Amino acid sequence: MSNFVRIKNKIIGFNKNLSIDGDKSLSIRWALLSSQSIKKCKSSNLLMSEDVISTLNCLKKLGVKIKIKKNVCEIIGLGLNGFKYKNNLVLDAGNSGTLGRLILGLLIHSKKKIELKGDQSLSKRDFLRVIKPLEKFGAKLNSNFGKLPIKIQGTNYSKPIKYYEKKGSAQCKSAVMFAALNTSGETIIKAKKSRDHSELLFKYLKLPIKIIKRKKYDVIKVKGKNKIPALNYKIPSDMSSAAFFIVLTALTKNSKLKIKNININPSRMGVFYILKLMGVKISKFNIRNYKGEKIADLLIKSTNKIKPINCPTRFNSSAIDEFLLIFLIAAKAKGVSYFKNLSELNQKESPRLKWGSKILNKIGIKNVVTRNSIKIYGNPNLRVNKKIIIKNFLKDHRVFMTSVIAALSFGGDWQIFDKISVNTSFPSFLKKIDQLGAKIE
Ligand code: S3P
Repeated sequence: MSNFVRIKNKIIGFNKNLSIDGDKSLSIRWALLSSQSIKKCKSSNLLMSEDVISTLNCLKKLGVKIKIKKNVCEIIGLGLNGFKYKNNLVLDAGNSGTLGRLILGLLIHSKKKIELKGDQSLSKRDFLRVIKPLEKFGAKLNSNFGKLPIKIQGTNYSKPIKYYEKKGSAQCKSAVMFAALNTSGETIIKAKKSRDHSELLFKYLKLPIKIIKRKKYDVIKVKGKNKIPALNYKIPSDMSSAAFFIVLTALTKNSKLKIKNININPSRMGVFYILKLMGVKISKFNIRNYKGEKIADLLIKSTNKIKPINCPTRFNSSAIDEFLLIFLIAAKAKGVSYFKNLSELNQKESPRLKWGSKILNKIGIKNVVTRNSIKIYGNPNLRVNKKIIIKNFLKDHRVFMTSVIAALSFGGDWQIFDKISVNTSFPSFLKKIDQLGAKIE
């Protein structure tokens, strides 16, 4: 089977309902937290993507019993600091920054030597951001100049810490919250706003957590050494995956799409509000609460009037995984859009700000990119007629899927490599594209 897709035609207008795979952030957090529980935990609709499978494989190597039957995953927790494993264990986080960073928080007490490694993309990413706060607990994390592989030497006695998270990284915040779980006393985190799934799960489990919400940051206080009860959870669908189809619908004439059961946690809704400001016809309905999270169905309709945006930076964190797609919308706007303070985008699975600019260049959209910003000169009459090849993007799943959406929306003759990258976060992506009637070779 070839490892690329060939797309030669735009998609034809559609009117459909679509279901989307489970949320990646929640799937990884469910598995990691369940491993710390003293009870049997069950989840349904767990995302069965490579990042989540890497999580389950790491936990299995740490002695956790995991069973998967049809759509249900069962984890028999070992309790806090209950992992059982041999000396010199090597854990592989694969492509997953979330797994790589969060699991370190659970390993600060490891009595035996453990090494954490990752794939080529993850090995290029910054881990100092978690090493620094985790070492304050007393553990030693010997890294390759702040990157993977990391050798972990746990501490017998950890002390609670005070930590100021300034990047707006939910992974850093969560790694420290996980470490705090197994530390006597109260850890205090002042964190720039970022996705808050860990906080909501801690609250749902009735763990001693206090959150003081300020305008730009939250103060989170976690008291450790409490028994974690069973965490039974039905994983809602992933907004970041839904975003590909939201954008495809918006950019395709005469189209309408309904997507059910999407996690509309406000800390993930940046893409929704940015697109609305740009004139995309999107609405949420049937809103309900689920164990602390909010879920809704979405309705999207195509639009031919897209407005440019000077994107407010307050949306940066809550849209961090969707900017490549937002740039495609900006490409069709009547005027110049500006996105700033986005240096974190270049810290992802690939340097995504650079890749956003490269894709825009390939489709003939003028843009000016800096280390942390991009200006996009939109063209409402954009039509692509040339051959485009997308490759060597460190197998970044979001670069692959965004390129597919660009090809189906704007036309041209595209060859997009590393198709297996969809397995990282959205294994059924190409099947969904097929369900909408697109022709992909
Ligand atoms: C995630 C946090 C974000 C996001 C990533 C998932 C999480 O990363 O980009 O896809 O589940 O905590 P940062 O913490 O680096 O911003």
